[in-house]
Amino acid sequence: SKAESDSIHRHRHVQSPSSKNQGLSVISNSQPDVLNSTLPTVEVTLQRHLGLFSGVCFIVGVIIGSGIFISPKGVLEHTHSVGACLIVWAICGLLALLGALCYAEIGTVIPRNGAEVAYLKEGIGSVHERTGDVLAYLFNWTNAIILRPASLAVLTLTFSEYFLAGIMDDCGPPSELVQMFAIFTIIMLINVSSLSVSAANHLNIVFVICKVLTILTVIVAGLVRVLQGHTKYLENGFAGTTKNPLGIAFAFYSGLWAYDGWNSLNTVTEELKNPQRDLWLSIALALPAVTVLYVLTNISYFTVLSKAALLSSTAVAVTWGEVILGRAVRALLILISISALGSANGTLIAAARYSMVGAQYGYLPEVFACIHSKRLTPLPGIVLQGFIGILFCLPIDISSLIDLFNFAAWIFYGLTFFATLCCKFTKKDAKRVISIPIPLIVVIILISIYLVIAPVISKPSIGLLVATTIMLVGLVFYYPFVYRKMELNIMKKFNTFLITFFDLQRAQVDI
Ligand code: ARG
Repeated sequence: SKAESDSIHRHRHVQSPSSKNQGLSVISNSQPDVLNSTLPTVEVTLQRHLGLFSGVCFIVGVIIGSGIFISPKGVLEHTHSVGACLIVWAICGLLALLGALCYAEIGTVIPRNGAEVAYLKEGIGSVHERTGDVLAYLFNWTNAIILRPASLAVLTLTFSEYFLAGIMDDCGPPSELVQMFAIFTIIMLINVSSLSVSAANHLNIVFVICKVLTILTVIVAGLVRVLQGHTKYLENGFAGTTKNPLGIAFAFYSGLWAYDGWNSLNTVTEELKNPQRDLWLSIALALPAVTVLYVLTNISYFTVLSKAALLSSTAVAVTWGEVILGRAVRALLILISISALGSANGTLIAAARYSMVGAQYGYLPEVFACIHSKRLTPLPGIVLQGFIGILFCLPIDISSLIDLFNFAAWIFYGLTFFATLCCKFTKKDAKRVISIPIPLIVVIILISIYLVIAPVISKPSIGLLVATTIMLVGLVFYYPFVYRKMELNIMKKFNTFLITFFDLQRAQVDI
């Protein structure tokens, strides 16, 4: 099977001295050159350096970012009651878990980096090759232009807003300063990720420990409040629940943003030491844990804040902190900022993998399939995604960025669930360590359709139109550059220039 030949092939690789402790390694040049590359011939490939603990940390690190500290307002705004709000948080957790388990299934059938790119290309492609190719291309385009850079921007803007508010006087930082600091942060993250894969991973683990401790502090404080009898805002929990079934989609958008990142381990499947076990197990450990943490955190907020107080707050956790911690709330601001920074770091690591796999399939210029020849990091992808992220920091406000993100993301999540379904029929014999029942996959496909369509009907916005237009613009490039494989002279020169300038080599392709 593909998985077996994959692992046989992996065992053949020889680690170079310079690659020790880096995330990638140089392999012997015995593989055929799949892309008929014009690039240097020494091949480098990704090393399997992530165990179960790192896997769990990678998922938790991307998931817990800014959302749990800010989104509760958005959830309450569209559910109108504490009870419904808590239920939405729990359902979002279940959805993320179910979605991630579907990804775990298809991820073991197609054990490649780059999650959706690979699953759409090879999953839907197993039913109809061209459709799979177009969808994977469209995802890759949307992901590189909107999804990853927008989340990077949201997370770094949040980081800089909270960090600066934590260290500055009570007036808060001016928005220009927040933007400048966010841009500076992205540049620093680009540096860390380009210098060393393992440094970025270790940084991630430190951030995870920090953010879990922050959340646990909020939960324990809430528990103490409950024991002291501060439960009046939790009583009559369902009074006033909204009756608008379409509007609730926006409540889910807020909640699902906080859970987004449930698919992040699938972007690094080729770097897992034991993907057959660790992919699904990391998901099965991380997501229920995050769900429990999130629901308890929300309960803690309601032991302090009434519905009205929560709705009038711009950052729920901070309003909560002002009551509980007094002046020490500044420490909470810094901790929240670190949480967002950690998520931004994981987002950039994942974004670079997406670009790499996209380029390996021919959806991006070949230079993005390259990694730095000494540091062995996917430098071109990191720089590309960081740079577009910087552009997103400039004009747009955070909440419309999040709506835009969710809309585009759920189109492709839904398609990837559909790919999982396709593989059940087309790749029957593949070894599955986990198999999600077909009715459950159908349910999550229907939910994805609802999540994409309901906001468009209930509150059509210019952002959604822009997102759709950007996606469709991508199609214009498909025919000449991907279908006809046209190579412009200027592109060749651009590739060669970047390859020499950054000292790159093409990574081993295993398609
Ligand atoms: N869940 C994160 C938060 O609450 C956002 C993650 C963005 N998504 C991503 N795949 N990087 O801030």
